[in-house]
Amino acid sequence: MSNELYAVVGHPINHSKSPRIHSLFAKQTGEPVEYTAIQAPLEDFVGTVRQFFEAGGKGLNVTVPFKEQAWALADSRTARAEKAGASNTLFQDNQGQLVADNTDGKGLVQDLTANHGVQLNGARVLILGAGGAVRGVLGPILEQHPVSLTIANRTVAKAEALTTLFADDADATALSACGFEAPDQPFDIIINGTSASLQGDLPPLRTSVIGADTVVYDMMYSLQTTTFNQWALDNGAVRVLDGLGMLIEQAAEAFRVWRGVQPNTASVIDALRND
Ligand code: ATR
Repeated sequence: MSNELYAVVGHPINHSKSPRIHSLFAKQTGEPVEYTAIQAPLEDFVGTVRQFFEAGGKGLNVTVPFKEQAWALADSRTARAEKAGASNTLFQDNQGQLVADNTDGKGLVQDLTANHGVQLNGARVLILGAGGAVRGVLGPILEQHPVSLTIANRTVAKAEALTTLFADDADATALSACGFEAPDQPFDIIINGTSASLQGDLPPLRTSVIGADTVVYDMMYSLQTTTFNQWALDNGAVRVLDGLGMLIEQAAEAFRVWRGVQPNTASVIDALRND
């Protein structure tokens, strides 16, 4: 069988790990997948997507800065993409209609629970940030029924808007919004979903949010310990995790959506950790 074409679209795209991850999935599963990277012009994401599918492409991953445009462009959206307000996974249904999905939240939850044995169920969770990255993961986190979910952000109004948007999904979870300096008790899990480190900044949290058993998770990933995780370690955290597992799990979920085959992620996480 000839290969079927998939790609990641972003701008810039040259550092994307998605081609490597999906090539490893294809090799491991024997699926006839060829996966490339496409840099779309900033002003023509839509044209790039249309051209890709018209040329017979089967599925796209979408990354910065096009996830919201991908969501808006689609003919229909999965429930999880609808709520996320952004899409990282596009494909065509049987009628050739463009469907937007979002696998980021599933990726985070899968990494925490399956790869690291960290239970969100019943946990007190603090999440930092209220931008697209955080909105994309709130639904799947709430599905795990944490006892509380506190959204802290520099712009408190944006965190408050997310608590309104997700109020119906909260069920028995106590969902609240605040600024970074308000939380003053230890949490079970602290997730950094801000882009503060890109400006060399840290969210100004009180160190009292870190307790003896707190798990700190930075959705960012870098070869070295991330800026946020280093801050946590310097202030008493004993368990810090970065976003490499999330990156690979969101890719695995996209591969499953496209191909109907579940790749094994452990070997791929090992391979990328050692690159
Ligand atoms: P993303 O898609 O990565 O979520 P975004 O939607 O621009 O990008 O959101 C960035 C998030 O990081 C926001 O929560 C932002 O805070 P504001 O809502 O107050 O803008 C946060 N952020 C960015 N730079 C920051 C900084 N220097 N300090 C603290 N928070 C910052």
